[in-house]
Formats: sequence, structure tokens, C-alpha cells
Amino acid sequence: MFVYQSRVKDQIVGSVKDVSVHAEGGIYTDAISGMFNVPFGYSCDPIKQHISKTLTDLPFHPKDHFYSSELFETSELVLKRAKMEDGGLLYVNSGSEAIESSIAMALEYHQRKGNTFKKKVICRKHSYHGATLGAHSITGRNDFKDLRCSGYDTIRINPPFPVVHEGQALEMHSVADVENIILHYGAEQIACIIFEPVNHLKGMRQTPGEYLIGIRELCDRYDIVMITDEIVTGASRTGEFLNTHQFGVSADIVALGKGISGGYYPASAMATSHKIASVFDKPEPWIPFSYSHTYASNPVSIAAINASMRVLEQIEAAGQLQKLITKTQALCQEIAGNERIARIESHGLLIGITLDSSLGEQAGKKLGGLCFERKLIIRGEEDWACLAPAYIMSEETLSDVFEVLNESISQL
Ligand SMILES: Cc1ncc(COP(=O)(O)O)c(C=O)c1O
Repeated sequence: MFVYQSRVKDQIVGSVKDVSVHAEGGIYTDAISGMFNVPFGYSCDPIKQHISKTLTDLPFHPKDHFYSSELFETSELVLKRAKMEDGGLLYVNSGSEAIESSIAMALEYHQRKGNTFKKKVICRKHSYHGATLGAHSITGRNDFKDLRCSGYDTIRINPPFPVVHEGQALEMHSVADVENIILHYGAEQIACIIFEPVNHLKGMRQTPGEYLIGIRELCDRYDIVMITDEIVTGASRTGEFLNTHQFGVSADIVALGKGISGGYYPASAMATSHKIASVFDKPEPWIPFSYSHTYASNPVSIAAINASMRVLEQIEAAGQLQKLITKTQALCQEIAGNERIARIESHGLLIGITLDSSLGEQAGKKLGGLCFERKLIIRGEEDWACLAPAYIMSEETLSDVFEVLNESISQL
């Protein structure tokens, strides 16, 4: 038998509590929130109880015939936080599906408007968008080549930060470069542009505010749908509900996943602005985008999102998230002096570290291993490592995490 799982550790998990994972090897502190998807820790009773109750009272029922009572209320909560109150929302099960739906909607949006040549998708060379074939075709990770396909007609642009991609140092693309690329292919052919506002590969690179504003302007000027993948950054991971809101920018379509269900149930969503949604509101025999997936918007996943949104609101209102963000910034500054760290930056509760090149190309992976030996779970690959602590982690635990991290970096 072979179970396909990316990071096979020969350990069985026994139980979990808050940010602790009890396994055969001991008690581990999870500083990456599962896979960026468990912002409220593993013992969030309000979410668990609400899911359990929904599972008991209202197990899945076919969406062809019914809505669950929470569907509209939850959608209002999500759209309000996404600042898309008069927009639209499509529920799906995974982040990859939210990405696929976003691209599909952008393409269909142009078809409906009669712009039939707008079929090209601008995406970044260095990126991750998911595991379905379509999502893979816009992904630009250098080590996922075997899974890359060209399902969409893609134009790959360089990110607005320096990165080595497939052994080559990429020149940073500015807004003017992106405009030149649009003009080179012809704006009438470009349907959308998609990117992660904080690129979680290569040590959490924030897309600068002026770039976001510039891309927004380009999208308006050339009628290009702006799609942001906020699957990692959404649900307030970087401070505000959506990362781009910090820069006063709203995309046309936002892909959400991971943290919006607290990680307790597979659920994700595509949120669209009114501009997009209004193109799909004409009555017709087949409701556009109503087909989606069998389990999409089932009452249990909606319950998970509903309860998570409420827990998030409480955590934010209590100032808990902001306090931990401030503590994170201070701790990053403290360890920035470690000469083995080439770069460290934090965006809310996303922390990225690039290790000094003298430590070798796989220093990040090695660091992940050293931390794991010391019962700390982080993510390390190539020459980078990242952390994404749960919003409920105590400041003491966070300090301990940084201590182990810094010591492990010194051991490299
Ligand atoms: C930025 C980003 N987009 C999309 C995805 C795909 O989400 P999922 O794994 O839920 O399909 C991921 C998953 O890690 C991600 O990090």
C-alpha cells in the first residue's frame, strides 16, 4: 500500500489541544497552524459545537432543492468582511476549487460582455495556487514541474520582488512592465490577472501597496478581472480580513479558503464584487455557477464558516490578534541580528525567513527538520522557512517558538 502524502513522518497523532499536537514522539508545538488553516487552534469549542450540532440536526441535504438556514446569513458575514456586500459568493470545498471557479468566472464574465477574445490569464512565475489541473496550470512553483499543465492560455510574469526561479534570478516586474506585457499581447486578449498578495513561497513576500494600486488601475483601464488568491492571507491572517484591504485595494474576485472554516471542515469560497456578480444576475433556465460541486455549501461546512467568522470577530474585538501581531514583530526584530538570517519579515501572523546562502540550498528544509526534532512544527523548504502561528497562541508560547527557532538556525 502507498498513501500519497507529501511529508510522511512515521508517527501517529494521538490528540491535539490548542496549538499542541500529542504524537508518539512527544508533544509538538504547531507554529504553522496546520497548513495555514487552523487560526483558532485545535480546541475551539464554539466551532466544534456548532459543527456537531449541525451534523446531528441537519446532515447534508441536496442543494438542488434546499438552502440551509445559515447559508444567507453566513454569506452576508463573509461578503461584508470582503467589502463586497452587493457582490456574489460561491462555496466550494477546497482552495484549488475556489481558484478554478475564479478563473472560470473571469472568462465567462468577458464572454457575457461580448469580449470573446479575452481568454488569457496573467499569472506569476513564482506562485502556488492549488492541486487541481487548472490550478496547477497557473501555479509557478519551480519544483512542481511534473504536475504543470497548460489548461489555460497563461502569460507568466515575474513577481514584484527578487526571486531565483528555475536557477535564474528573475528581474522584478513593475506595474509598467505588466502594462507592457498586456499591450504586447493585446488587452483585448487578456481576461484576468491572478496572484497571491503575500507570496508564501520564498519567505513571505508582500506585494507592495503601490504595485497593488497600480495593478488595480491597469485592470480598470484594460477591463481585466483582478483576482487575488487570499487562501493563505485571508481571514485576517495578515491583520485585516483581506491583505489587499491594508492598502485600500479591492480585487474583483477573491479566492478564500483555509482559515475561513477554522480548518475544522473542508470549505472555501469565491467572493465577487458587484461588477462581476451583476453580469450573472439575468434570469435564465440554468443559473450560472449554480452547479459547483456535490458537497459545496452543505450545511456542515457553512456552519464551520459561520462559527469561525464569529470567533474571528471576538478575537479581533478583544485585541488578541493585534497583540500577537505586535509581539511577532518584536520577536522578529530580536532574532534579525542572527547573521545566518538573510531576511526576516512578518505580515501579521505570517513570518518568512530567508537563510544565508552560505548555509546551502536546502538550509530551510534542514531547519524544518531540526525544529521538528525539538518538537516545533514550522515549514522549511529550499533556503526559506515560514511560520503562521494560530491567533490564540499565548505570547509565552510564541516567545518559546522563537527561542527554539533561533537556536535551531544557529545549529545549521
Ligand atoms: C496560496 C494558495 N492558494 C491555493 C491553495 C490550494 O488550496 P487547497 O489545498 O485547499 O486546494 C493553497 C494551498 O496550500 C495555497 O497556499
